[in-house]
Amino acid sequence: MIKKCLFPAAGYGTRFLPATKATPKEMLPILTKPLIQYGIEEAVEAGIHTMAIVTGRGKRAIEDHFDRSYELEHQIKDTSKDPLLAEIRALIANCTFSYTRQVEMKGLGHAILTGETLIGEEPFAVLLADDLCSCGGDNVLQQMINIYEKYQCSIVAVEEVPKEQTDQYGIVVGNIIEGTDDTYRIVDMVEKPNPKDAPSNMAIIGRYILTPDIFDILRKTKPGRGKEIQITDALLEQAKQGKVIAYKFKGKRFDCGSVDGFVEATNYFYGKRKALK
Ligand code: G1P
Repeated sequence: MIKKCLFPAAGYGTRFLPATKATPKEMLPILTKPLIQYGIEEAVEAGIHTMAIVTGRGKRAIEDHFDRSYELEHQIKDTSKDPLLAEIRALIANCTFSYTRQVEMKGLGHAILTGETLIGEEPFAVLLADDLCSCGGDNVLQQMINIYEKYQCSIVAVEEVPKEQTDQYGIVVGNIIEGTDDTYRIVDMVEKPNPKDAPSNMAIIGRYILTPDIFDILRKTKPGRGKEIQITDALLEQAKQGKVIAYKFKGKRFDCGSVDGFVEATNYFYGKRKALK
């Protein structure tokens, strides 16, 4: 059972300056909902109710968002605006939110290690809110949990990207698991290789299921690409023991960490909303 989801949310979001000068990038909205709320909703749909959020300086708006606002509730009570808070109210009622701060920005691996205190000794999910996914059936985390139940090891969600973009992602090489067409046992992985050196175009997207031995590995992981502690490097240690699976998820992903992806997601969700009306 995966009961906890970790949300690394300490990054500066420099690609969205000046919008992210005083507002966490995770709070930027796609339509009327902040990015991180989509992530929390994905976790809840996948049966997870314990949210562990790694924040940093200037991120207090995230904590306030997942808390009651008595003044606002009072103002809109019995008005037509009241239903606009229904979704967030349900999340607050059904989940617990714990926070810890990453004091120094030393990479995604370091952010995940910072979250150890909120996770403990159990397998857990990691969701990067920048990667917004939309799926027809089960959401990406649910699909990955189904795979985890079968293999009981770390799982990364992957998709094929254009070769010239390999330097934006963790890239994996794996052997297809017999009897499947979407599940690979990883034999090699490298963080953001130059396209000319990339061993494949299979890119990790912001969804992971990790077994808790990853924390000890992360403690020993030396800074890698960009002089940061990379989760990709720690996962390679597990992969050497055959303990990491890449899963080609079913669905669409938007890279909301880039302006292009953010606009694309906005148009897509706006189209979906219009079609419902
Ligand atoms: C991080 C990881 C990278 C992964 C990506 C997915 O990079 O380091 O391996 O492919 O998330 O979004 P970032 O996007 O934080 O630079």
